[in-house]
Amino acid sequence: MQRTKIKDALAATQAMDEIVIKGWVRTKRDSKGFSFVEINDGSCLQNIQAIVDHTPEIEATLADVGTGAAVGITGSLVESPGKGQKWEVRGTAIELIGTADQETFPLQKKRHTDEFLRGIAHLRPRTNKYGAMFRIRSALAQGVHKFFAERGFFYVHTPILTGSDCEGAGEMFRVTSLEHGSQAPVEQDFFGRPAHLTVSGQLEAEMFSLALGDVYTFGPTFRAENSNTPRHVAEFWMIEPEMAFVDLAGDMDFGEEMIKYLVAHVLDTCASDVELFAKWVDKSLMPTLETVLNREFVRLPYTEAVDILIKSNKKFDYPVEWGIDLQTEHERFLCEEKFKQPLYVYDYPKSIKPFYMRVNDDDRTVAAMDCLVPRIGEIIGGSQREERMDVLLARMKEMDLPEDHYWWYVDSRRFGSVPHSGFGLGFERLLMLVTGVSNIRDAMPFPRTPNNLDF
Ligand code: 4AD
Ligand code: MG
Repeated sequence: MQRTKIKDALAATQAMDEIVIKGWVRTKRDSKGFSFVEINDGSCLQNIQAIVDHTPEIEATLADVGTGAAVGITGSLVESPGKGQKWEVRGTAIELIGTADQETFPLQKKRHTDEFLRGIAHLRPRTNKYGAMFRIRSALAQGVHKFFAERGFFYVHTPILTGSDCEGAGEMFRVTSLEHGSQAPVEQDFFGRPAHLTVSGQLEAEMFSLALGDVYTFGPTFRAENSNTPRHVAEFWMIEPEMAFVDLAGDMDFGEEMIKYLVAHVLDTCASDVELFAKWVDKSLMPTLETVLNREFVRLPYTEAVDILIKSNKKFDYPVEWGIDLQTEHERFLCEEKFKQPLYVYDYPKSIKPFYMRVNDDDRTVAAMDCLVPRIGEIIGGSQREERMDVLLARMKEMDLPEDHYWWYVDSRRFGSVPHSGFGLGFERLLMLVTGVSNIRDAMPFPRTPNNLDF
């Protein structure tokens, strides 16, 4: 007989004479003549309770069933007299599929710290919290594709191996097929030139937006920034829409629409998983999400943001003056203290931004935008792209970027260049927003950070 997932069993509209449940034991309590076994199979947050009547054979099996063991229980689905759940299983047979050594199984009934669980990332999805996190992560990813599909966007698979540094920040992982310590010249390496893991699919996505119109990429990106913060990881997923015939204002509108859609999607599809976070992780989660859903995002020029920060008379670790890149402390002040809601800061100084951003008429700023949200700071970084070839070339020269290296990118401005815009939304930061977790490592199955390559 095929197994029924616990999610479906708990949603049953009538009793079932025959059912097979398979999953992992959360608790077992022996009574006289029968045992209670609580099983979770990951299909939902809830466990199902099975009551298994003892026969000599069943008792012998149950003796080896402990927390964490995998079992299959055959029986019937009956109405539960207990509070809290509608259905339970009356088990007539139990199969021990995989034992779990009770001496060494690390997940006890008590609450474990996030730090402890990070050390056992291979087992943490078996806890309530991380099971919920990774179901939400899955729903959010599916929501991303749904959002774009409903708007006629095409999904482009941009390369992960690349020869260009999109952000120009030099924070790239080198890729080579040469032995470690090899003195061989780069010409003898696999690609005959330096190769890296991509930091962003944007440049390639731009090429496709200039052909298919509205496109997006959604995939892993890599940054070798040595910043040990709760918001940075070396490998993260980024959602990058790129839209032809759209300017910076349209770009910001689209980002706001997307964040609101995805927050609503998660609340819609993962209600009980989100509830767990609202109850145990962040008491202000629901009000925060309400604010995200209901407020129109503020739009604030960088120059005004700097004024506000200076006039606030707050003591920041990084002093504020026009021209600096905003730090998390500045972003969070604007978002959490000044405006108390999501906002965009736009028109940043040209000198702190990459070569591809469109230069504004003042020649000091570029058409860049960051979206800032409470508790996290930057969640989106984007811009209108420089579509004018002469301006682009001048900027590249200014920044010492080799034109021959980016020949294909420049070429796109030679033939039918049009205004276009896009942004990158950090997928894990969005997960932090919708779950309230404060460390990005807890929003990734197997986080990659400096000196941490386990799993
Ligand atoms: O602001 P960033 O660097 O923008 C770009 O890479 C553009 N090329 C995107 C585009 O216009 N298509 O990164 C975009 C977002 C950030 O706002 C942040 O949410 C996330 O990616 N991000 C990180 N998330 C986790 N760990 C890191 N090290 C991250 N770096 C950026
Ligand atoms: Mg950024």
